[in-house]
Amino acid sequence: MLPSSCGKTTRVANITSIMSRRSHSRSPSPRAPKRTKIDHLTSEDFKNGVMLAPMVRSGALPTRLFALKHGAALVWGPEIVDKAILHAERVVDPITGVISYNGKSRAMFTTHPIEKPYFIYQIGSSDPELAVQAARVVMQDVSGIDLNCGCPKPFSTHSGMGAALLTNPDVLCAILVALRAAMPPEITVSAKIRLLPSQADTLKLVERIVNTGISALTVHCRTRTMRDKDAALVGRLREIVDFVEGMGRGIAVIENGDCTGAEDAKRIRDLTGAHSVMIARGAESNPSCFAPVPLSDLEKTLCPSYIRMARYLDNHWGLTKFCVSQFKGKHVDFDKPAQKHYRQVLNGTKGYDGLEEIVGAWTGEDDFREIVKMIEARAPRLHCEEAREAAAPVPSEDPPTSTPSDTANPEPPSLGRR
Ligand SMILES: Cc1cc2nc3c(=O)[nH]c(=O)nc-3n(C[C@H](O)[C@H](O)[C@H](O)COP(=O)(O)O)c2cc1C
Repeated sequence: MLPSSCGKTTRVANITSIMSRRSHSRSPSPRAPKRTKIDHLTSEDFKNGVMLAPMVRSGALPTRLFALKHGAALVWGPEIVDKAILHAERVVDPITGVISYNGKSRAMFTTHPIEKPYFIYQIGSSDPELAVQAARVVMQDVSGIDLNCGCPKPFSTHSGMGAALLTNPDVLCAILVALRAAMPPEITVSAKIRLLPSQADTLKLVERIVNTGISALTVHCRTRTMRDKDAALVGRLREIVDFVEGMGRGIAVIENGDCTGAEDAKRIRDLTGAHSVMIARGAESNPSCFAPVPLSDLEKTLCPSYIRMARYLDNHWGLTKFCVSQFKGKHVDFDKPAQKHYRQVLNGTKGYDGLEEIVGAWTGEDDFREIVKMIEARAPRLHCEEAREAAAPVPSEDPPTSTPSDTANPEPPSLGRR
């Protein structure tokens, strides 16, 4: 799905981060880190794919890994406001490789090296300097930085962020220019906007944004005042795509709005000419929707495999429960009373313990390894030694069987829907 860019600019793996991971590792004799060439994303990698949209809460680490396993080309993380990450402490779980950026009382954000080659970190900002500082904090763990220019919620727009940037193009573009200048070439910079009420104004804005040097532009085909239930104005996108192509910079235009899955993405690309399509609520309902044949059985496949992996990654139970509660699917061989019992078990538990009855044996590690295998199989060019090492079982004379109880990976900030 991802066009290969083998042979393009490469960089050497971040030795410091490997060493810091090693210093947390239980391995008795750490191997010397290899100097490995790592390919990076270009605008071409934002083309011909179906992407997981940024989603606060619903776009948690297990959802992103699940989406990658089932065919998402790239995955966006939930928006994190610039200031929120500035003083976070980066902690690596020595067993799972999960990286947490911990605030005072909780993790602001968690990621895993296996997703890094496909992972776009989204910033909420109205200040070029803060945006750059925030990007610098996380850049060793991400492949791209995206600026949220579409969130219409007052908590975002009141401080000039999100959709407020659409009517403040000087600040919007200053942030993108600053990010592009500050980030090394292997980190892409992109933006996600909404439509302006007038098409002419939208094209003017798009022209300015494209000229900042970004690699990709996602257009959520709704205006700031439109709600999710209003049909996305996909009919307006073709002119925008043609316009961007006419600028000749090779930038990817990604459609966002009302796509339900891989098949539907083909229809939307035909309709709009967009290079790629991005899915939010479809993936919130079923993170395997990127597959030609998504998982459809809720109780026997989708929920158990998600929960097992989330537990292995020590994902905060409240967050896992929330994500699973959003899933929709068929109830195969599950009559009404069985469905009710299933929900009662899920809702009744305060943690992962006690769920064996509905998720089967606790072999979340196997689920995770399978995901690692599938992600690695799809695009070897993007796989760095660092990610493989982090995903590999930790060699030890006394192999740990579970994540230590003091591992911090609590729930990211709940900012609600946008
Ligand atoms: C639960 C939820 C959280 C969201 N969080 C973000 C976010 O952090 N950043 C962002 O740019 N958009 C966010 N959005 C908007 C989506 O990325 C997307 O633009 C919107 O839902 C339209 O796509 P869809 O029709 O596929 O749902 C969120 C949407 C949902 C449903």
